[in-house]
Amino acid sequence: MRRLLVASLAAAGLAAALAHDTHSDSNQLRRRKTLGFGPAHPHATYRTAPLYTTDSFGAVREDPIEVARRFILDITKDIDAGSHFVIRKDSYTDKNTGITHVFARQFVEGVEIADGDINVNVKDGVILSYGDSFHRGPLGDPFSLTSERLDVHSEYCNQLAAEMQSRVHRIQHQLFGEQTPMRDVLDREQQGFETLFELREWNCAHVDTPYKMSVEGKFSASSEEAFAGQALLQFMIAATPNSGLAESMAQRPSDYLNKMTFSYVHDLTGESVTPAFIIDNVPDAVSPVKAKMVLVQVPSGHATTLEAVWRFEVEMQDNWYEAAVTVTEPHRIVSVVDWASDSPIPTEPSEPKTATYNVFAWGVNDPSVGNRSVQKENFDHLASPIGWHSLPTYNDPATTSSHSKVFRNTTDTWGNNVFAHENWEGRNAWVTNYRPDAGESLNFNFTYHPKETNRTDSMDEAKKYINTTITQLFYTGNMIHDLYYRYGFDEVSGNFQQHNFGRGGEEGDAVIMNAQDGSGFNNANFMTPPDGQNGRCRMYLWNTANPYRDGDLEAGIVIHEYSHGLSTRLTGGPANSGCLGWGESGGMGEGWGDFLATTVRSNKNYSDYAMGAWAANRETGIRNYVYSLNETVNPSTYKTLDKPGYWGVHAIGEVWAQILWVVSQRLIQKHGFIDSLYPPLPDADGTVPEGDFYRTQEYTSSGEKKPLVPKHGNSLIFQLVINGMKLQPCRPSFFDARDAIIAADQALTGGENFCDLWTGFASRGLGPDARVDGRTPWGGGVRTDDYAVPKACKSQDEPVPEPEPKPTPPGDGDDDDDDDDDDDDFPWFW
Ligand SMILES: *[C@@H]1O[C@H](CO)[C@@H](O)[C@H](O)[C@H]1NC(C)=O
Ligand SMILES: *[C@@H]1O[C@H](CO)[C@@H](O)[C@H](O)[C@H]1NC(C)=O
Ligand SMILES: *[C@@H]1O[C@H](CO)[C@@H](O)[C@H](O)[C@H]1NC(C)=O
Ligand SMILES: *[C@@H]1O[C@H](CO)[C@@H](O)[C@H](O)[C@H]1NC(C)=O
Ligand SMILES: *[C@@H]1O[C@H](CO)[C@@H](O)[C@H](O)[C@H]1NC(C)=O
Ligand SMILES: *[C@@H]1O[C@H](CO)[C@@H](O)[C@H](O)[C@H]1NC(C)=O
Ligand SMILES: *[C@@H]1O[C@H](CO)[C@@H](O)[C@H](O)[C@H]1NC(C)=O
Repeated sequence: MRRLLVASLAAAGLAAALAHDTHSDSNQLRRRKTLGFGPAHPHATYRTAPLYTTDSFGAVREDPIEVARRFILDITKDIDAGSHFVIRKDSYTDKNTGITHVFARQFVEGVEIADGDINVNVKDGVILSYGDSFHRGPLGDPFSLTSERLDVHSEYCNQLAAEMQSRVHRIQHQLFGEQTPMRDVLDREQQGFETLFELREWNCAHVDTPYKMSVEGKFSASSEEAFAGQALLQFMIAATPNSGLAESMAQRPSDYLNKMTFSYVHDLTGESVTPAFIIDNVPDAVSPVKAKMVLVQVPSGHATTLEAVWRFEVEMQDNWYEAAVTVTEPHRIVSVVDWASDSPIPTEPSEPKTATYNVFAWGVNDPSVGNRSVQKENFDHLASPIGWHSLPTYNDPATTSSHSKVFRNTTDTWGNNVFAHENWEGRNAWVTNYRPDAGESLNFNFTYHPKETNRTDSMDEAKKYINTTITQLFYTGNMIHDLYYRYGFDEVSGNFQQHNFGRGGEEGDAVIMNAQDGSGFNNANFMTPPDGQNGRCRMYLWNTANPYRDGDLEAGIVIHEYSHGLSTRLTGGPANSGCLGWGESGGMGEGWGDFLATTVRSNKNYSDYAMGAWAANRETGIRNYVYSLNETVNPSTYKTLDKPGYWGVHAIGEVWAQILWVVSQRLIQKHGFIDSLYPPLPDADGTVPEGDFYRTQEYTSSGEKKPLVPKHGNSLIFQLVINGMKLQPCRPSFFDARDAIIAADQALTGGENFCDLWTGFASRGLGPDARVDGRTPWGGGVRTDDYAVPKACKSQDEPVPEPEPKPTPPGDGDDDDDDDDDDDDFPWFW
């Protein structure tokens, strides 16, 4: 496909300008094929000021789930009979903020609507905010593929084609028009094309071409197995990175269908009325595929209607997909989310003995900014009650046949939070892979002296320090676990642990971390299945320098990857991994990682930072711009998403991270900076001392402790961003995520940073009237920046310090604002 670009530009005489060397460079790597798209939901809303009276809930105030249930009943009473909802079991109360996060799923005639989500955030009987993408409208016939719907599906790729066309025109205009483009503009255009071509190469060949699957052999023509199998094969043709296999599946579907085996999954509760299967022997899947018939919402004309689909969970070598494929022939892929996220390419027990590690200490981002030193296992009784080197045998993948709740102490890089090991073979095996053993001393002290070599020896040279690199990965992974835990990524909110200490949530899901993974170079990725299944992080070597650089040693990359687990589990609830799939949501999934990693490495003396600069051996790192307050150095605003090169989730994420970086600096200006982001270790009884970290503990009028508030700007924004993830809806837009951060501040501080946050967002175009028109299944659309702040903030000249905005009492919410735009409403609660 790239040839097509070069050809079309060569015709215009541009080839020399654009087709520069990067692609012939042997360092250029294979990109992991990934799919991600789905119908836009114009009716979905997120309200942080619901202007809703909960008086009638008086009697149930004590029960937040019941408050949420009544609230949902009320806001959904307009929906046709036949629709009902279920409060999901992964709803939880955050013990740090006291906010209960309730997740509801919609059902119609007993059939689940897979993208019918409501999330309600409740505290003290008050609805703080909620997101709503429930289906409203006629049920229709979800099994008949109307021509309107077929058009919609066919349009996915037409929209891509149109976008590509307009970009070719734009670049031609730039080159021949008055503007003389700069080299870096051309480079970015080139990257933009590459993203688009990749999207088209990966998605369109098969998404738009449903194959006729003849049903033969063991299937009866109308059996559910047959239709599920055909739909799955249709998906595998699109999903496999192996083009030979795709072709073979398309040509001889029966060969593959006949090999598949189907086991019905029987639903004990009888809650589900649609069939569900486990399908084995699926080509290119590495484990049996879960399949369930559900409904999804798709645009049809001007309305949104329901369509019956098979929802598949497909684990592959490099992807872990949640896909929706129409039940009705021709089988069309309606939406697909890859639970795997790439990093960028440049492109009750007693306290065991404390381990020590010779590592780049937390805060030393990579080998260019500091040397290694001896660090201790971080004994945080709240985050890791049994330390990093212990786990219960009943949840220990390395211990077979034991079901007793005995804890096993380990002397290698294997524990309750992280399993770290090499994976030179680049395959899925991991339990028996090599990991260093420090013996009884638990002194992980290994050498690191990488030497320049000739190419053929580079790999061997890197393998020489495998003990060091696995130790580092284990240390960094556990530090992130403990840090995020203390900011509220705990068991009930879906964190990654083999054992949950009876604190709720699903267990058996430590992060599997592969060092020097042989399945790629110059990259890293993270797969996040729902709570209760292990996260998988793969770190690669970077062949960008001699000796090679090892991504495991660059903390920023590891933090970025782990943060995919954080944002995916927190957004839309622990049991839903499908909320950050594509477009702006998927982009923010990347952006949070960059922002959190950059915040971790920053210090009192402000400076700009690049992402992945050491590993990529490039001063400006792997993004288009370094993160900077200077608008010349980093000009990104919301509207930047319309530019060439901003279709991929990483480019979108870069804009989000930049906006958060600007916002965070405003809070630092106002509240100061603390050197360590780690809250003080808890006392023996589990209470958290304020130290210099938190503000003085406050109490409610009834004498209960209010949530602890981080005192400084950097720790406060860290907390607000993580709390915001819990508040925002499934499939959030930039607007939703912005509003959720502002709502998080409202809940935590009473909104004292309302205007600082808005001023920060607005300075990069995300003011209250920012807009996007015509969202597409690929995350496209036309965006408008807004640099204004809400009226309540306009009187202020300079942002720091700000008087606390006075919340209007419940019921008066509209008084300060006469227009009808909900987004601009001043929050009234608290
Ligand atoms: C693990 O270590 C702790 C303290 O070092 C000890 O109390 C406990 O008995 C050990 N567990 C096992 C199974 O050896
Ligand atoms: C690491 O230590 C060496 C020797 O003490 C010193 O020359 C070098 O500057 C240090 N590197 C960094 C990045 O601090
Ligand atoms: C680590 O090993 C080096 C040499 O291999 C040694 O000099 C140093 O004392 C060791 N450090 C610890 C904490 O054991
Ligand atoms: C690479 O290094 C090895 C071992 O040092 C040596 O045997 C080989 O000749 C070298 N190859 C080249 C092309 O220099
Ligand atoms: C790794 O450490 C082990 C001891 O734990 C040692 O036997 C082995 O030789 C080391 N491997 C390398 C490649 O240095
Ligand atoms: C910040 O800058 C001051 C003055 O240049 C310097 O003394 C201090 O070490 C720096 N602090 C950090 C954490 O870099
Ligand atoms: C912003 O960056 C540009 C380009 O590096 C520089 O010329 C300018 O002085 C910077 N502005 C500020 C306020 O630092």
